[in-house]
Amino acid sequence: MAGPAQIGQLVILNDLSFVAGRSFEGRLYLWALLAILGLGIAAVTILTARLTLRGWISSLRDVLNDPQPMTERPQNDDPQIAQFVGEIRQLLRDLDISRRTATAIRTDETAQTHWSPEMLRRVLDSELPGSEILVVSNREPYIHVRQENGDITVQRPASGLVTAFEGVMRACGGTWIAHGSGSADRDTVDDTDAIAVPPGAPSYRLRRVWLDDEEMNGYYYGLANEGLWPLCHITFSRPIFRQSDWEKYVAVNRKFADIVVAEAKQSDPVILVQDYHFALLPRMIRERLPEATIVTFWHIPWPNPEVFGVCPWREALVDGLLGSSIIGFHTQLHCNNFIDTADRFIECHIEREDAVISVGNHSTQVRPYPISIAWPPPPLETLPPVAKCRVNVFERWKLAPNTILAVGVERLDFTKGIPERLRAVENFLEMYPEWVGRFVLLQAAAPSRNVLPLYQEVEKEVLMLVERINNRCGREGYQPVILSVRHHEPEEVYELYRAADLCIVSSLHDGMNLVAKEFVSARDDEQGVLILSTFAGASRELMEALIVNPFDARATAETINQALRMSPSQQTERMHLMRALVRDNNVFYWAGRMLIDAARIRRRRRIESVIAVVSRRATGN
Ligand code: G6P
Repeated sequence: MAGPAQIGQLVILNDLSFVAGRSFEGRLYLWALLAILGLGIAAVTILTARLTLRGWISSLRDVLNDPQPMTERPQNDDPQIAQFVGEIRQLLRDLDISRRTATAIRTDETAQTHWSPEMLRRVLDSELPGSEILVVSNREPYIHVRQENGDITVQRPASGLVTAFEGVMRACGGTWIAHGSGSADRDTVDDTDAIAVPPGAPSYRLRRVWLDDEEMNGYYYGLANEGLWPLCHITFSRPIFRQSDWEKYVAVNRKFADIVVAEAKQSDPVILVQDYHFALLPRMIRERLPEATIVTFWHIPWPNPEVFGVCPWREALVDGLLGSSIIGFHTQLHCNNFIDTADRFIECHIEREDAVISVGNHSTQVRPYPISIAWPPPPLETLPPVAKCRVNVFERWKLAPNTILAVGVERLDFTKGIPERLRAVENFLEMYPEWVGRFVLLQAAAPSRNVLPLYQEVEKEVLMLVERINNRCGREGYQPVILSVRHHEPEEVYELYRAADLCIVSSLHDGMNLVAKEFVSARDDEQGVLILSTFAGASRELMEALIVNPFDARATAETINQALRMSPSQQTERMHLMRALVRDNNVFYWAGRMLIDAARIRRRRRIESVIAVVSRRATGN
């Protein structure tokens, strides 16, 4: 059946037949006319297409050349354009998914070749070429301390955050902005309040921020450590919330925001915000550097909404964090808790499948990135073999040659479960008296936040328990527990790890716990047993450890006995697997994954800006 076009064509042909007549010349004339007509239509079509294309290309070029991509997204009234933009957005979503898979594969593959500082540098060069990197944390990686004789020494603080990030900064370079807390810090900076570190082999810039006593009391001791720290660690210690602390917390976050903005040389730097001291900082930076890629890492647990909900400033804290492009936690559980908390207290849109939270035009990805340590661990470079470390430690602490040595290493903090560990040791010596005289726990405890009552109480309790156990089970020349309360440099700590038969990590709650990973990394002889709290994030990864509930003193005592009876071949088998995990999932892998995700967000935002501008130009809006 002929359609309307065909009918029209027949009519034309009939008309032309009439004009051309029935002669051969007439038919020729007719075909020539048709050919010219066809060519003309084709030329007009091509010209129109070229002009349209040129318009689109010039729009695209304008946007791509624009150093300040646009963030606003115009609404399209034209249904065709809207559909086109919708299709491209869908394409981007698909691209996202395939890229995520590709990233996972790539990182897994590269993990086989072990992530290194070199590989991290390569990732930076390829994924974020020319990008400015700024890191913000409260604790600084190097503290200059003036000694009594006037000399200045450098201390490396006991901080999981610093342990992890220092290696990353050595590899990436950039500027690390942190509180200058050392007594000689002001004497060692240049006129920009900065110093190149590490001392002796500088590879990045440490920009110090000065805080007065009032700021420290309100922001650091008060809101951060008496409020947020107990709030987020479920150890049943009541958080304290004071309005005056909150005001200082807001003010100090603003102070750091001012410094970040002043330090930034680009309009879209990559800013890595660290920890619970700076929950408000991402939003404050976002308001002033809207193009910045802000990756925030929360180094401590995030509790469920019921627990977090008791905080009087819960909305402001969550909203502040949602200024980030990405928020990272150690575990999937902490991510889920954060999303649930945002859902409960904030006006936002949540894509649970993608773990994306949107407030207004801005979206934040919530991702698990289990933190780790540098591999190989730097302190091993200078330490002798395991056997020699053991001799050194035994001599230093005057241990009998047949001693079975357990070690504990942490800050003197109520979340670390040191009293619980001591009670377990006490139970163990009572339940298995055959070990009395041989078993020694050497507890290295770094003084921490000791102006706070909770910390003073835990120190008192630890001292009381050590005395009680030593009185009960010790004798001339033998003390079951040796307590060393002072700062220990990383080399000394690693020497302890290498000398020990057993390492006990009994945190009541911990984001990750890097001591567990450090112990494993120190044992290149593949010997030694790790006892690990089920409430430390590390227990999700180090499954070959002996996992305990630190609140259960009897069960932990039984586990100590089991550890001491473990055969060397069993120890090797477990240690081998744990070492492979820490080696592959090292801190360069941790940072690399975050930076790759940050780079993906930057690319995506750029493409979205292009679409927004092109669609706006196409609709003339
Ligand atoms: C935890 C926190 C870090 C902190 C460290 C030491 O690991 O997540 O942010 O640096 O404790 O605590 P301090 O208060 O001495 O920095």
